[in-house]
This record gives sequence, C-alpha cells and structure tokens, in this order.
Amino acid sequence: MNLDKLMNKHLTRYFDPSKTIPEETLQQLLRFLRSTPSSVNVQPNHFYVLATPEGKERLTANLGERFQDNAEKILNASHTIILTTRADVPDSHLEAVFTKERADGRFPDPSKQELWESMTRDFLNLRSYGYKDLNHWMEKQTYMAVGLTMMAAAELGVEATPLEGFDPTSVDKAFKIRETGHSTTVLLALGYPDPERVYTTPISRFHADHLFTFI
Ligand SMILES: Cc1cc2nc3c(=O)[nH]c(=O)nc-3n(C[C@H](O)[C@H](O)[C@H](O)COP(=O)(O)O)c2cc1C
Repeated sequence: MNLDKLMNKHLTRYFDPSKTIPEETLQQLLRFLRSTPSSVNVQPNHFYVLATPEGKERLTANLGERFQDNAEKILNASHTIILTTRADVPDSHLEAVFTKERADGRFPDPSKQELWESMTRDFLNLRSYGYKDLNHWMEKQTYMAVGLTMMAAAELGVEATPLEGFDPTSVDKAFKIRETGHSTTVLLALGYPDPERVYTTPISRFHADHLFTFI
C-alpha cells in the first residue's frame, strides 16, 4: 500500500461504470470485512452487497430527494455495500455470539469463556442502563469496520467511498432492514475511478499543529 499516495488523494466521486471488481478480489474484501473486530466481539452488523443494477437502482430510488447527487456514484460503482447495525442486543444475539466463540475455541479453557461472557453481559448492561448509548456505541463499531475496509480496499487497488448522504428510514424500508432488527448506518461505494474525472486539486486538512498535542 502506498500511504503517501493515499494521504494525498481525494475520495472517489466519479466511478468508471465499465469496470467491475473481479470476483476473487471482492470475496477477499468481504472476508476482510467479516474479520473486522468489534468491542466485546458484539458483531452488531449485517451487510447488503449490491452487485446488480437492480440492487443499486433499488438503493438510488430510495436515497431521499435531497441525496440524489449520490445516485450516480452508486450506479457507476462496481458494488455498493449497505452497512447496517443492530438496533439493540437481544439475548438471542448474545447467545449466538457466545455459541460461535465456544465452537471456534476462542478460549480453550471453559472457565475463561464463562468469565468473558459475564464480563460481556456487564459491559452491555453498562451501555444500556449506564451510558444509555447501546445503538450509538454499536454504530461506532460499524464505522470502524468501514474505515478498516477502506484501507483493505486500497491495498487491493479498489477505491472505496463511504456515503452518509441517504435517508435511513427510506433505505431501511426499501430493503426491509428494520424487520431484521437492524437499521442502515452508512454506505460504501466500491470500484474504479473514471480517469477523466479524478480531482487533482490538493486535499485540504488542518495543519498538524492544530491536530496534535505532544506531551
Ligand atoms: C463517513 C463519510 C461519509 C461521506 N459521505 C459522503 C456522501 O454521502 N457523498 C459524497 O459525495 N461524499 C461523501 N464523503 C466524502 C467527504 O465529503 C470527503 O471525503 C471530504 O469532503 C474530504 O474531501 P476529499 O476526500 O476530496 O479530500 C464522505 C466521507 C466520509 C468519511
């Protein structure tokens, strides 16, 4: 990965509609997305991978009027992922996490798994009744998955642009997402840039003095 190049490039706004991510590359990226970590391994996500014109059109028809400028990006991108996050953590979800951890042998010592499960329940109670931010906290996990996947895409030579310009109520309805106990957090458009429409102006970020305090 060329970090200098990454540091100096704009996110892609114009994708080349004639280019599709090879299946093997896509699968590797999805394997990476599946592997991204979450706090207490809560794994609060479900991902809708839109690969077909029908899927992408269903999304663009439901972005909401004020977000139509994102439609072209989605239609021209090779793939767009809808990243959804659980609205809450029912016991059935937590049990599914623990069952998978046990099956995967995450903690070979059963007493360690038991301790882990009780610590996880404590932490989730704190989020629900102490900080009262359970869904917000889970969406933070989703954003981490997006950031990591953007880096993984760069490593694979794929451009990845996150999109927050959409109406979540409308997208949830179009894909029947709420019925699954999730709601849409963010979109990720993936593909290759249109070489004729790549921004070449400098990127604009605050000076390092504004950002870093060394102590
Ligand atoms: C989380 C996130 C959401 C974004 N949503 C959109 C979007 O909906 N539409 C869009 O055109 N750009 C979107 N962007 C791109 C930003 O506007 C862009 O990265 C920022 O203005 C800096 O511009 P640059 O990448 O060209 O340097 C998003 C970027 C991030 C990180």
